[in-house]
Amino acid sequence: MNDRIGIVTGGGDCPGLNAVIRAVAKAGAKRGWETIGFLGGFEGILEPEQFMPLDYQKLSGLLTRGGTILGTANRGRFSAKVGDGETRRLPQSLIDGVHATVDKQKLRGLVCIGGDGTLSIAQQLFEGGVPVVGVPKTIDNDLEGTLWTFGFDSAVACATDALDRLHTTAESHNRLMVLEVMGRHAGWIALYAGVAGGADVILIPEIPFHYESICAKIADREQRENKRFTLITVAEGAREQDGELVTAADQPANRETRLGGIGAVVAEELEKRTGKEARVCVLGHLQRGGCPTNFDRALCCLFGAEAVELIAAGRFGRMVSYQGTHVSNVKIADAVGRLKTVPPDGDFARNARALGICFGD
Ligand code: F6P
Repeated sequence: MNDRIGIVTGGGDCPGLNAVIRAVAKAGAKRGWETIGFLGGFEGILEPEQFMPLDYQKLSGLLTRGGTILGTANRGRFSAKVGDGETRRLPQSLIDGVHATVDKQKLRGLVCIGGDGTLSIAQQLFEGGVPVVGVPKTIDNDLEGTLWTFGFDSAVACATDALDRLHTTAESHNRLMVLEVMGRHAGWIALYAGVAGGADVILIPEIPFHYESICAKIADREQRENKRFTLITVAEGAREQDGELVTAADQPANRETRLGGIGAVVAEELEKRTGKEARVCVLGHLQRGGCPTNFDRALCCLFGAEAVELIAAGRFGRMVSYQGTHVSNVKIADAVGRLKTVPPDGDFARNARALGICFGD
């Protein structure tokens, strides 16, 4: 039996990738296995010598280090998501290429760390006979099959810190302060950070908004609460009822396009409608950078160890998953293909409403 495993990171980076790499290599080493990491995402698997042996020396400092020492890519030949939200089938030649490297490197298993796109590729590789296991990564937390993905908690911590800072300046100037956060077509970051950071209004893709409702909330705060400032958190994928997605630069507004700009649109419209001064802050890639939070570090350690367990047990085609009280695993096929979005009438949104938070509906 081979005693070597491979790791590949795909899609956008996020805090905790290095912590998972470290955990996989450590848990593998404990079993006497060697670990190699492919460089630059799946493309690295196709290139000769595009890998890094992850010996013990290389693992120092990785638990807390942001980004991925292996590099990653969210564009190119291995993109499973193109344009219409459908999953693209990989050409057989790419699957064969990965297979050939796995055989040549005598890998017992390949750990694919990524979100919906990367794990859709992992599933296709698995169907093509490659021994893969998955680890769920994305700040967006929009992957089915796991309660939380790693990276999400770190992004929420960053957005909450931003709200804390915006709170004091909004209050000092009696302004409307809009914070735009990431999340693509899911409102998890906006919802968790909005609640944790005391936002008065939270706009998420799952609940299309009306300006009338937001203006009523602003007026109510002034009249009943004597609060002359309002904090608004808006997810990049939020949109007005019957409105379009706001995209970065000149791009077609399809599901895979780069989002961004809704914060400025909301701030401008609210300024017009209320006569109050409004400012916008776009948090952007700050949410993806830096050290993982304590929670993410621990989650990454458990995920990495569980991924190695799966390989040892020969349970390929499975993704490690966080179930709230413990780490377990599910079929990759059950986690990909549809996004996990915020239930508009779920407990979290319901309790947020009970606190007086306005969703703009
Ligand atoms: O999926 C993670 C994410 O950060 C999204 O929240 C965001 O829309 C997108 O990636 C940004 O991607 P890029 O790295 O291409 O700017």
